[in-house]
This record gives sequence, structure tokens and C-alpha cells, in this order.
Amino acid sequence: MTNEQFKKEFELKRLKVEEAINKYLPPANTRPSVIHEAMRYSMEAGGKRIRPMLLLAAHEMFPSNIDPLPACVAIECLHTYSLIHDDLPCMDNSDLRRGKPTCHKQFDETMALLAGDSLLTYSMYILANEYKDYPKVANGLVLDLSYNGEKMIYGQVEDIEGERNGKMTADKLNFIHHNKTAALITSAVTMGIRLADNYTEEKLEVAREIGKNIGLAFQVIDDILDVTSDDATMGKTTGLDAANDKMTYVSLYGIERSREIAAELTNKAIQDCEKLSENCDFLKALITYMQNRIN
Ligand code: IPE
Ligand code: IPE
Ligand code: MG
Ligand code: MG
Ligand code: MG
Repeated sequence: MTNEQFKKEFELKRLKVEEAINKYLPPANTRPSVIHEAMRYSMEAGGKRIRPMLLLAAHEMFPSNIDPLPACVAIECLHTYSLIHDDLPCMDNSDLRRGKPTCHKQFDETMALLAGDSLLTYSMYILANEYKDYPKVANGLVLDLSYNGEKMIYGQVEDIEGERNGKMTADKLNFIHHNKTAALITSAVTMGIRLADNYTEEKLEVAREIGKNIGLAFQVIDDILDVTSDDATMGKTTGLDAANDKMTYVSLYGIERSREIAAELTNKAIQDCEKLSENCDFLKALITYMQNRIN
């Protein structure tokens, strides 16, 4: 797949995801409207939509007649909740997200907290409701999203504990990154596969391995960009990791070694794609895009 073909395909899929977000979220004027406005504010602010894209890429390798879009919206809801809460003053204390004021800056802390709560809960409702005619699929999707959403919290807890008591080790850092970021990214890949009825446990295991490697690489790159990029390019406040004394790949290994680690993880994941399916061109191109991203 050429870069041009990939960009076209990505844009087509992204538009479908945006439309689905609009379709499956409650209308902004639903009472109490302030919460639905806040949910939509953060969901519609943009974002790269990497997790829905991974889900669609995986679904393409294991095609079925079941619509993947509600699952795309569900994972994006859970991800967006994690960003709203991550930005709160009691967490990373950030003012800019997806190119706009963070949810708590636009509304207030209470409404941002509740908008996050609501997006988390609503993600599970979407899965249960939209896949109710396929109980095995619905169960698999809820299982993956809830299990990995819970792991994300383990990562966030140790991330914050790390700020408070500065002793950094490779083991702690790996735990944080695997849980706070790689877990949810893993679920994007496995949920795409769960929508088919012909997947095997072996395939799911390969998907988990790919998800783990690209998820870790994704956070390593996020750590690098926090130092090397700027607010306008990233659409979020940069430089916060150092300001908050975070444990990051950059602080432990430096930028050059971190780049090498991200490349090694990415290469490993790309090799593993062939084990999933011959039809993995879009997934491989997406993984390459994730590595080369500038925001
Ligand atoms: C940001 O995720 C949080 C991390 C796990 C690094 P993204 O970089 O995917 O954020 P959006 O969705 O594009 O805003
Ligand atoms: C992302 O970590 C963790 C989440 C689960 C949201 P960061 O705190 O590094 O994410 P950004 O840099 O604020 O997007
Ligand atoms: Mg954080
Ligand atoms: Mg943050
Ligand atoms: Mg970051």
C-alpha cells in the first residue's frame, strides 16, 4: 500500500468514525444538556482516532457482517474519558487538549469529572445495546474494553505515584506504559477480531502481542514528543512530563535510545501482522503512521 493510498483510506475511515460518533452519542440538548455538551465537546474536538482505526484495521482482516462502528465509538468514548480525567488539576493539570481548552477549562472541574464518568459508562452501554443480537460478540467486546480500561487505571495510579516519590526504575516505567496506554490499544486490535465468528484464540494472542508492542511504542513516542514538539503541533500542552516529574522513557533512556526502542517495537509488530492475516496491508501502514506521527 502506497502512502497516498493509505492516507485516502485513513481519511475515508476517519470520516465514518466521526459520523458514527455523532450518531451514537446522545444529542447535545438531551437533559441535562450541560453534560451532553461536555461529552460532545471533548469527543468532537478531533483527535487522531487511532484506536477506532486499529479496530477497523483488525476487523478488515477478519471480515464479518457485524457493524464495527459502534465498537469504534465505544473505545473512543473510553479513551476520551481517560483524557478528560488525565488533564484535571489533580492529575496532569493541563489546559489544552485536541487543540482546544481542556474540558475542565471550557466547563468546570465538576462537569469535566462527570463528563468523563458518563463517557466511560456510556461506552459499555453502546456495546451492550448495539450488539445485543450477537451475545457472544457483545460479551467479548465488553470483556476486552472493561478489562483493559481497568488496567489503564493501574498505569495512571503508578504514573501519579511516580511523580510523588521519584525513584524511577525500568520495571516501574514498563508497568506504567503497558497499563496506561498499551492495554487500551491492545483492546482496539482484539475488539476488531472479536467481531468475527471465525477467529481463534491463537489469533487473539498474536493480536495481543501486536497491541502490546505498538501500545508501548505509542507511549514512548508520546514521551519523546512531549519534549521535542510544541503545543500548536500536538494540540495539547507539551513539556508537562518534566514539569510534573513524570517517569518517562525520555527521562530514563534519553531521546535517542527511546527512538530506537520505539523503532524496535514497531518493527516487531509489523512482522507479527503477517501471522494474523495476509490481508494486513492497512494495519501495517497504520502502525508505520503511528511511529512516524508528529502529533
Ligand atoms: C493521548 O492519546 C494519550 C496517550 C495514550 C499518549 P492520543 O495521542 O491517541 O490522543 P488523541 O486521541 O489523538 O487526542
Ligand atoms: C496518557 O498519558 C495516559 C492516559 C491514559 C490518558 P499522558 O498523560 O502522557 O497523556 P497526554 O500526554 O496527556 O496525552
Ligand atoms: Mg498522564
Ligand atoms: Mg497527560
Ligand atoms: Mg504524554
